[in-house]
Amino acid sequence: MSIKVENLTKEFDGRKVLNNISFSVEQGEILSIVGFSGSGKSTILKILCGLLDADSGNIDIGNGDVAMVFQYSALFDSLNVFDNISFALQERKEFRNKYTKEQLKEIVAKSLETVGLSGIEDKFPHELSGGMQKRVSLARAIVTQPEFILYDEPTAGLDPVASTVIEDYILRLREETKATSIVVTHQMSTITRCSDKVIMLYDGNIVFRGTPNDLLKQDNPFTKQFVSASIEGPMKIAATGF
Ligand SMILES: Nc1ncnc2c1ncn2[C@@H]1O[C@H](COP(=O)(O)OP(=O)(O)OP(=O)(O)O)[C@@H](O)[C@H]1O
Ligand SMILES: [Mg+2]
Repeated sequence: MSIKVENLTKEFDGRKVLNNISFSVEQGEILSIVGFSGSGKSTILKILCGLLDADSGNIDIGNGDVAMVFQYSALFDSLNVFDNISFALQERKEFRNKYTKEQLKEIVAKSLETVGLSGIEDKFPHELSGGMQKRVSLARAIVTQPEFILYDEPTAGLDPVASTVIEDYILRLREETKATSIVVTHQMSTITRCSDKVIMLYDGNIVFRGTPNDLLKQDNPFTKQFVSASIEGPMKIAATGF
């Protein structure tokens, strides 16, 4: 199933954070969304997963299940890893009573195995490193067998090796679930390794769309400024509300 967004607009406090933007992600593809802090990346994901309403626009995300991997892992501190991962299966109407306790255990064990963390069901989030928490949040995302996975800065705050591990899992989850995915990221390695195509947001608009290779060509002022991380260029930090 694909994602189609047409003329999406969202305003906060009189400021158009998203101004009539359109893009699509085909079945099984991974799209990266890049852009300065405050450019509306998380807002797009929150609208797609139903946490926020758009002001206007058409969003076609089928009837499939949408999983969100949040920017700050967003695990429940007071729940252990087992309860965090199985939360949706235990609490959501459409899943409640679908599985026996034994089946839940199997599903959680398999999802932990997928992210290389077998056997940590009894641990609490504060006992895990940031990278492990991210991987638990990936494991949590897949237990509902989602058709769509939305990742909000999945490698933020991780060292380069831990980032590579997460990138490998993003690719692996795509293989295993065939999900259509969107990854919000600032990290070049995530863009080049994981995505089929990229859009860049600035001041409410999409200022670049293309492949990761097109982005690296730096042949427009926006991609040039982004890739070289320059303060000089068409994008002014003030315009993002940063
Ligand atoms: N619920 C809200 N109420 C008011 N303003 C909001 C709300 N959510 C987001 N904003 C504003 O919308 C803009 C975009 O926010 P968003 O979180 O989408 O940015 P982002 O691109 O994800 O940034 P970052 O890279 O820092 O995560 C910001 O200026 C933010 O202050
Ligand atoms: Mg964000």
